[in-house]
Formats: sequence, structure tokens, C-alpha cells
Amino acid sequence: MILMEDYNKPDKSTINQLNNRSNLTSIQWYPGHMVKAKKQIKEKFSLVDVTIEVVDARIPQSSRNPVLEPILREKPRVIALNKRDLAHHEMTLKWIAYFKSQGLGAAAVDSSSKQGIKELINEVKGAAGPVMKALEAKGRRRRAVRAMIVGIPNVGKSTLINAMVNRTVAKTGNKPGVTKGTQWIRVVDDLELLDTPGMLWPKFENQQTGFKLAATGAISDLVFSLEDVAKHLVLYLKENRPEVLEERYKIELVSSDPWVIMEEIGRKRGFLASGGVVMMEQTAVMLLREFRSGKLGRFTLEKPGSV
Ligand code: G4P
Repeated sequence: MILMEDYNKPDKSTINQLNNRSNLTSIQWYPGHMVKAKKQIKEKFSLVDVTIEVVDARIPQSSRNPVLEPILREKPRVIALNKRDLAHHEMTLKWIAYFKSQGLGAAAVDSSSKQGIKELINEVKGAAGPVMKALEAKGRRRRAVRAMIVGIPNVGKSTLINAMVNRTVAKTGNKPGVTKGTQWIRVVDDLELLDTPGMLWPKFENQQTGFKLAATGAISDLVFSLEDVAKHLVLYLKENRPEVLEERYKIELVSSDPWVIMEEIGRKRGFLASGGVVMMEQTAVMLLREFRSGKLGRFTLEKPGSV
């Protein structure tokens, strides 16, 4: 098992351990850091009426951290399925229905182009409704709903905060936990938000989860071998959407070996070293870039109930 201290910048010894590895599972964060981040989130959680748990709409389950569950379940919660522009539309609707069947609020958003923000705000206010009513029934003065955003790195927490308040307040970048001294910012008259999101690292439960987190860019490209992630991606596409590989890269899927398919793609794209050897790393980088940017189409890598 490899222990990671910092999500974005694994230290030298960790990188040395990671070099040449192809295993997508055996990473764990330093337990002490995890405990501290959890504690910080818990403290801020006590100040809010509702949480907005941001997930990547392409991997709505793998981009959640189960460690947060016991904390977050204490209050109303809305799942924001972000990056909906990159996910399969019908699958996103299924995920929304699934989360709602679990008693959670849910809305799909594209924070980059500020789509779905109004629906999300309505969902958050709706989820907090009973709590606010109960406060008023106790004779407390009416006040704005208070919410905080939580999630793993790179799901778009900061982009979402900025989209909700329509200006740049949250810097993109990741620090586990919640920075001290965070402030309330007004979203609309009756909703305010903590300006810094709560962050916890993702959890690698198995190789498939590791692959999904790596393929969608939820974890730093320093962590896994890019060729290995791209190989898993090719395998996924071959099994689920072979026409995408055939059409985009003009190849015929003769071999079932993802490595051979990758070589074929690299050759077609002209990633060749002297002697006609395919440059696999460049091929992997190109494949992942095209997948992540949506050039290969919109994908949701997991179905509700199957993960
Ligand atoms: P975080 O706070 O959860 O760590 O995530 P952050 O907002 O920094 O967003 C991570 C990346 O995801 C950023 O891209 C951001 O632009 C992108 N992103 C956020 N929301 C959406 C969305 O709804 N759709 C799409 N397609 N992308 C989204 P980046 O490449 O890291 O930075 P940049 O290109 O914005 O400079």
C-alpha cells in the first residue's frame, strides 16, 4: 500500500514508489490527515442547514467519499451532479432519480457554463425547507438558508461556488478540510454559502474506482501510469462503445488486447519514434485528453445500483 500525503503533489519517495506501477488500487492517504480534514468539515457542517455534495456526473458514485457519509447524513443534502455537459444525459436523469429515491435532493449542473444553477438553488432551498420551518415554529427570526459545498478534488466545487454567486470568490485549487476563517457569501436573498468548499480525498475501493477517478481527471496524473489508465479506457470503450474507437481513430477492432489497440491508434495518429515504434505515452496522453474534454462523446461510466 502506498501512503499519500498530498493529493496534488505526491512527495519524491511516493513518486519513486509509484513509478512503473500499474496498479490502480493501493493508494491510501495518511490516516492522520484524513482525520484532520474530516474534523474540519464536521466543524463547518455544524454551521449549515444543508450541504451540497458535488459529484462528477460521469462517475456519480466513485466521486463520492463514503467517509463523509456518517457526517453528512445528519442534515438535508443535495447532490450536485456537476460536469453534466460531459455525461450521458439519460444516465444523468437516472442518477437524479436514484439519489431522490434515497431521500436526497439532486440536480445536474454544468458549472463552467452556469447551466442548471437555478434548479440547484431551488433544490437546496427545498431541502432546507422543513428545517427553516421548524426554526420559525420555535419562534426564531427568519434568516437565509446556510449551505456548504463538499466533495473530492476536481469535481468542480470552486467553479460551482463561483457560478452560484456569479463572480469569482472561490479559488480553484485543493486543500483538504475547510480553510479556517471562511465567510458567508450571498447567493440569492434567502440563501448563503460558505466561500470555501470542504474537501476530502477520494477513496480507492477497487481497481475500477481507481480507473474511473483517474480517467476523469479526479486525481493527479502524477499518481498513476497514464498508459495504464489509457489502457483501461480503451478496454472500457471497446466493451461498451466500440464504434467510438473505430470512428474517431479510423481503426478496425481486430485484436481484443487493449495495448495492441492503443498501438494501432498511436500509429494512425502518427505518434512514431525512429524505427516506427509507437510512442505509447503520447498516445495515452492524447486518448485521455480527448476523453476528458468530451471529444469522444458524453460518457457516464457507472449505473445507479451497479457500483
Ligand atoms: P474543485 O474545486 O472541486 O477542485 O474543482 P475546480 O472548480 O477547480 O474544477 C476542476 C476542473 O473542472 C477545472 O478545469 C474546471 O474548469 C472544470 N470544471 C468544473 N466544472 C465543470 C463543468 O461543469 N463542466 C466541465 N466541462 N468542466 C468543469 P481545469 O482544466 O482544471 O482548469 P481550467 O481549464 O478551468 O483552467
